[in-house]
Amino acid sequence: MPTDREKLLAANDNLKMRQQYEKQQQKDDFAPIGEGMARMFLKAKQHVDPDEFARLMDDDYRERRRQELEEQTINKAVAEVNDTKKKHYYKCSLWSGDKPLTFSFSDWKVDLQPDPHAAKEIGKKAFGLAKQLENDNFNIAMSGDRGVGKTSLALAIMQQLMDNGKSGMFVSTAELLNLISRKYDDASLVTKINRIKRSMVEVDVLILDDFGTEGGMTGAIKPVHKDMQDLMYQVSNARVDFENNRSKGITIITTNNTKSELKKMYEAKFVDRVFPRNPDHQIAFENMKGVRNV
Ligand SMILES: Nc1ncnc2c1ncn2[C@@H]1O[C@H](COP(=O)(O)OP(=O)(O)OP(=O)(O)O)[C@@H](O)[C@H]1O
Ligand SMILES: [Mg+2]
Repeated sequence: MPTDREKLLAANDNLKMRQQYEKQQQKDDFAPIGEGMARMFLKAKQHVDPDEFARLMDDDYRERRRQELEEQTINKAVAEVNDTKKKHYYKCSLWSGDKPLTFSFSDWKVDLQPDPHAAKEIGKKAFGLAKQLENDNFNIAMSGDRGVGKTSLALAIMQQLMDNGKSGMFVSTAELLNLISRKYDDASLVTKINRIKRSMVEVDVLILDDFGTEGGMTGAIKPVHKDMQDLMYQVSNARVDFENNRSKGITIITTNNTKSELKKMYEAKFVDRVFPRNPDHQIAFENMKGVRNV
């Protein structure tokens, strides 16, 4: 005769086996509609009478569920494609000296400047623009002396917008010119330049960093290489929604030059297109000192 304890253990084993069996059966029954739904139906089966259960499982329901799943699959695929695209644009970035940079608003230290109040206001303006750009498209120009933090705040805006789902790309204009001027000696660069150009057209947030250095330092301003002019012109054209007379994406330029100096390097029409007219969209780093290597 089994003892009470043995009976209890046997009953427990039995119960476990039954549960396992039922679980498997449910998996088989509900395989096409996913585990989450299977669990829901299991609950329903316990509480609903068999006729009601059969009704729930009717063809109409199955069809609706199939459509829902199909929609979910499509949405997931679209999200994956967008994600891949975003990564691709970012990877097409051209960093100065091939060194990727990151900067976010929390890295902005106002005390590095002799006039912390001015630094604070500039940081606040950049942050305010980043917030606006979460739901709008316009260009930004950041101008000022070397090392005052233009590139850093441009990166912070891009980072903020990327965290918000937009795609971003950084282009050092000097590096771009360097690539373009070498393409005649190295044919493989043509493909690379075309890929970069395409990304520059399509990306949501494009930083054109150190815009103007390609025209030489101040005092020796000269027109920029014809191929570079053409590329920039085509990119800027493609980033304008002519029908609605507004910007298609967001272009952020950082520069040591004034707008009129830039017009000596590039066609005026092009400069007018990328350099925002609205003073609210311009950040002048005035009363700031270079803090590189501090
Ligand atoms: N307010 C700040 N807080 C923290 N780091 C700063 C600040 N200002 C500048 N820096 C740092 O100083 C260095 C120079 O800044 P940045 O490259 O942004 O200057 P820039 O204005 O773009 O200079 P350039 O005209 O030479 O390109 C960077 O390493 C940047 O992170
Ligand atoms: Mg810079």
